[in-house]
Amino acid sequence: MEQSMNELMEHTADMGQAEMFSKEWYNEYFRRAAESPTHARFCEAVYGRDLCQHGMMDIDEMGFLASLLKPGEKVLEVGCSNGFITEHIHRQAGCDILGVDYSDVAVGQAQARTRGKADRLNFQCVDLIQDELPGGEYDVILAIDSIYFMGDYNQTLAKLNAKLAPGGRMIIAAFQVKEEGDPETILLPGHTRMDEALKDLSFRYTRHDFTENVRNHWIKNYECSRKLQSDFAAEGNAFLCEARMAENGWFKDHAERETLVRFLYVIDHNGALA
Ligand SMILES: C[S@@+](CC[C@H](N)C(=O)[O-])C[C@H]1O[C@@H](n2cnc3c(N)ncnc32)[C@H](O)[C@@H]1O
Repeated sequence: MEQSMNELMEHTADMGQAEMFSKEWYNEYFRRAAESPTHARFCEAVYGRDLCQHGMMDIDEMGFLASLLKPGEKVLEVGCSNGFITEHIHRQAGCDILGVDYSDVAVGQAQARTRGKADRLNFQCVDLIQDELPGGEYDVILAIDSIYFMGDYNQTLAKLNAKLAPGGRMIIAAFQVKEEGDPETILLPGHTRMDEALKDLSFRYTRHDFTENVRNHWIKNYECSRKLQSDFAAEGNAFLCEARMAENGWFKDHAERETLVRFLYVIDHNGALA
């Protein structure tokens, strides 16, 4: 797992939440989130639109991402959760998407909701660490705040690249923080851990800066979770609020200290790796 996420996991483990981000934890999260009016209000306020998000991509960044896709392209989205984002991108860009996630609860919600669109929008339960990626070759592979959960960046990029059609591309949204002991340059464009992995593997790519969005995101996330805390509790969904609060203090500190950056990496298929 990527270094930044390790640090966050250690931080949340200290708070008695060692199982955070496990499959069981995500199942509990999405079981509750899909039914929670307060979670919908939280997402609307924090992301600009309620798509039952659990990542950091606001509606502006999502619009930019959708503008990179072409109608009819065959897309694989890894870590799609319960598929509201997938469905939104499918509607905006007109591409065909298979979304995969290890939360069977989230995938079940997505499948039930989109049954009528199964010719162009599908969902499947896949463990991104243990399982093979399904299907043949894709024009695009999307990873929105899911790359952290797939293990070592170099290995993950090679695994995703192997599922791309010639001329295909990966689009990866990822944050980077600077912690004690990290190189001074780690936040600079071209020097994040993702940049280093991409350079190691000789990928050609472009990078789009969403640092301002992610810093605003975490400040709003922090404030809204506290504003809505009693509403979450009144619904019996204190779990959802605690889940947000377990991470948003850590991220808000980084946002305020300006030790948090975010980029959308658009990476060309590298045939030489095959
Ligand atoms: C931070 S959430 C992001 C969800 C969504 N992309 C978004 O931006 O709201 C990470 C997602 O990755 C999924 N995930 C984490 N580890 C996984 C694994 N090993 N295999 C498959 N999915 C995984 C979780 O179930 C969750 O839906």
